[in-house]
Amino acid sequence: MGTSGVQRSCHVFAAAIVVVVVLSCFICVASSEMFLFNKSTRRSGDMKLEEQRSRCDLYQGSWVYDDSYPLYNSSACSNIRKEFDCQKYGRPDCLYLSYRWQPNDCDLPRFDGQDFLKRFEGKKIMFVGDSLSLNHMQSLLCLLQTAVPNSNIIKQRNDTFSTVIFQDYGVSVILLSSHYFVDIEVEKDGRVLKLDSIKNGDIWKNMDVLIFNTWQWWYRAGPKQPWDYIEYGNKTFKDMDRMVAFRRALTTWAKWVDSDVDPTKTTVFFQGISPSHYRGEEWNETGRTNCGMEKLPMNGSTYSAGLPEASYVLQEVLSGIKKPVQLLNITTLSQLRKDAHPSSYNGFKGMDCTHWCVAGLPDTWNQLLYAELFNNCTNSKAKKIKVGI
Ligand SMILES: *[C@@H]1O[C@H](CO)[C@@H](O)[C@H](O)[C@H]1NC(C)=O
Ligand SMILES: *[C@@H]1O[C@H](CO)[C@@H](O)[C@H](O)[C@H]1NC(C)=O
Ligand SMILES: *[C@@H]1O[C@H](CO)[C@@H](O)[C@H](O)[C@H]1NC(C)=O
Ligand SMILES: *[C@@H]1O[C@H](CO)[C@@H](O)[C@H](O)[C@H]1NC(C)=O
Ligand SMILES: *[C@@H]1O[C@H](CO)[C@@H](O)[C@H](O)[C@H]1NC(C)=O
Ligand SMILES: *[C@@H]1O[C@H](CO)[C@@H](O)[C@H](O)[C@H]1NC(C)=O
Ligand SMILES: *[C@@H]1O[C@H](CO)[C@@H](O)[C@H](O)[C@H]1NC(C)=O
Repeated sequence: MGTSGVQRSCHVFAAAIVVVVVLSCFICVASSEMFLFNKSTRRSGDMKLEEQRSRCDLYQGSWVYDDSYPLYNSSACSNIRKEFDCQKYGRPDCLYLSYRWQPNDCDLPRFDGQDFLKRFEGKKIMFVGDSLSLNHMQSLLCLLQTAVPNSNIIKQRNDTFSTVIFQDYGVSVILLSSHYFVDIEVEKDGRVLKLDSIKNGDIWKNMDVLIFNTWQWWYRAGPKQPWDYIEYGNKTFKDMDRMVAFRRALTTWAKWVDSDVDPTKTTVFFQGISPSHYRGEEWNETGRTNCGMEKLPMNGSTYSAGLPEASYVLQEVLSGIKKPVQLLNITTLSQLRKDAHPSSYNGFKGMDCTHWCVAGLPDTWNQLLYAELFNNCTNSKAKKIKVGI
């Protein structure tokens, strides 16, 4: 699979570039080689590419088998956490590595790690959130590291940050672990989750790109719950409806974005709710209580269980923010991937249908991030076409 697959796909990619060169401008392609191909434009040479781009929803589509994937061999990526390194921990099937997300109205560009590093030179990207942020970040690190295997990489770590610096490009990829975004403070009666207080904001502000995510920890109870009280509006509660608490904390975060983010400096993303697979009835396998038997993605574009409630709360809060925040709307496309969790193939041998194998699904999240970050060329291409024709 590995190398030959990658080479085969390069030919496909090169062929696609030639098609676009014919249709549009050479300058644009030469300067970036990076755009969203629009299927109907490729056929008709239509001038309204820009409009079509804005209509192309990257998140509506389906999974297709493509043997030019995965994008890298996970054994070539150092330091994948034991929770995510499915191949290393003996996962016997490989099919789950060879699915590509195909949007209905355009194609996702293939992730090009070297291009990412060049375009992102001198910049800092930070993931803020729980272990799904770590999952997302580790995939990005593998995509980048395997693209420039001989470059200098520095890793730094302390209680707050985990930083990886691609020295030759001055690119920093940083994880700031934060389960709730809002603060937990130790006071005389115990640990207090303060739904209207965010003190980390000053660290976030210095980044060029921020990718937030919180959800997994909101329903934690018992010994795994890392707080004893909730505080909101100067009142203290022993507990409250967790969805309400989630909404309040997100709203606090949203206010922070509106008051503190400088959109000319910082691009803000929110990683949509990442789904788990413990209830077989959601994917037409009533009786199954985990993803252990799953080797194939779902067909089609819809997941019969619908979106999780938290994703509606998230959408509502995001729609109230005045500054630009881009939702990486990974929920539905990840729901279709009941096959992409580690299940029992991880370093602790527990059944895990919450996180995702690396390589695997999070590589697609990063392809979407790549497309959202650098979709610039599509627009300039559209202008060139209008002038040229
Ligand atoms: C990944 O690399 C390892 C070690 O070189 C090799 O044994 C394995 O077959 C490769 N896997 C794929 C899917 O190419
Ligand atoms: C996210 O994508 C799904 C699937 O395309 C869609 O149903 C949902 O409305 C989208 N959410 C937002 C906020 O766009
Ligand atoms: C952790 O490291 C970062 C730089 O990587 C530094 O700015 C920060 O102050 C450090 N935090 C602690 C608690 O040492
Ligand atoms: C909490 O109390 C402080 C000081 O009494 C007050 O300034 C603040 O407005 C109150 N906050 C809320 C959300 O009621
Ligand atoms: C669910 O399973 C039933 C029985 O096997 C089958 O008839 C039906 O088409 C399946 N539905 C989907 C959406 O796969
Ligand atoms: C999904 O589609 C493939 C190819 O069309 C088909 O062979 C397979 O049976 C379908 N699977 C389900 C669960 O419907
Ligand atoms: C878009 O292109 C302009 C000019 O080349 C550049 O300044 C800007 O940073 C680019 N934006 C993104 C998101 O790539």
